[in-house]
Amino acid sequence: MNVAFVDLKAQYESIKPEIEQALAGVIGDCAFIGGKYATAFEQAFAAYIGTKHCVGVANGTDALFVALEGLGIGRGDEVITAANTFIATAEGITRTGAEVVFVDCDPTTYNLDVTKLEAAITSRTKAILPVHLYGQPCDIEAVMRIANKHGLQVIEDVAQAHGARFGDRTVGTFGRAACYSFYPGKNLGAYGDAGAVVTSDDKLEAFIRSFANHGRSDQYFHDIEGVNSRLDGFQAAVLSVKLKHLETWTEARVAAARRYDEGLRGACVTPAAAPGRRHVYHLYVVRVANRDEVRQHLQAAGIQTGIHYPVALPYLPAYARLNHKPADFPVAHKQMTEIFSLPMHGNLTGDQIDFVIEKVREVARMPE
Ligand SMILES: Cc1ncc(COP(=O)(O)O)c(C=O)c1O
Repeated sequence: MNVAFVDLKAQYESIKPEIEQALAGVIGDCAFIGGKYATAFEQAFAAYIGTKHCVGVANGTDALFVALEGLGIGRGDEVITAANTFIATAEGITRTGAEVVFVDCDPTTYNLDVTKLEAAITSRTKAILPVHLYGQPCDIEAVMRIANKHGLQVIEDVAQAHGARFGDRTVGTFGRAACYSFYPGKNLGAYGDAGAVVTSDDKLEAFIRSFANHGRSDQYFHDIEGVNSRLDGFQAAVLSVKLKHLETWTEARVAAARRYDEGLRGACVTPAAAPGRRHVYHLYVVRVANRDEVRQHLQAAGIQTGIHYPVALPYLPAYARLNHKPADFPVAHKQMTEIFSLPMHGNLTGDQIDFVIEKVREVARMPE
């Protein structure tokens, strides 16, 4: 039985008429960049997250960059983020001219370890950029407490956690702004690159909307030099269709995760969903002692897996300038050799999940 890591085809088949009608509407209206489809999606997404504004941009990496620019972060500043995340989080920081400062991750949730956060703050620190990794909210309340104590700004990276909740609050509503990716494989994914910044701060929204559109305040009047990072009509129309299904797909992910949890108990370390938080399972990440063997066994059986991420950011050549050693981020460093991700999406069948469980159980060994 073949089990795809992410099955965009199955998802498309389930919403085909709606998608085709939406795309035909964009062509009919020639609303290719910005326009009514982008505005409609921005309003619907802001309402879903619970913020006053949403500004659609070209991708999630740009969302982080323009939000940090909006806070006035630049050369000489430091921004703290998690050691275990996708490189885009750190790229957004570096692009402003600021330096990225990494903090190790929590051994059970894999999210930024808030007990190590204060030690990373210096006189140059301007902001904290926590990531809600794999779909699980980080301890955002603790992040906010520490940020407020030290007078720091917070921008949330919610690229992997659309609709996740901390307590009864949706993540993305805690910091000054929050950044989303709608890369096709995300929980809410476009049919190309797309992203957004949400905020309830009027001034910040006005800056980002202008900065991401060449710094313009009128068609050919520019207060500042900005960038070209806009949401296009096709992506917005697809996202508006998919947003209506997001809760159903998220519940399907949660149900799939529960079935994996049950079936894999004792065979490998399954994701620890912290109490009082809604984990939306962008990824289902497990740990084993014999990762290569398990992945090969699954691959031979037709099951796709991934590793998120094979090298934690501080140990990538891109950050060699920071000179980090394994002992600087012991948890992230150890996880690099043990973690891998099982198939996870909203269209997984019970039979597929049970097949994956069976194959993992045949060879997996628990890590120490
Ligand atoms: C945690 C995280 N941040 C940022 C991004 C960047 O998003 P994009 O690929 O849309 O630029 C991604 C996704 O790729 C991500 O997983």
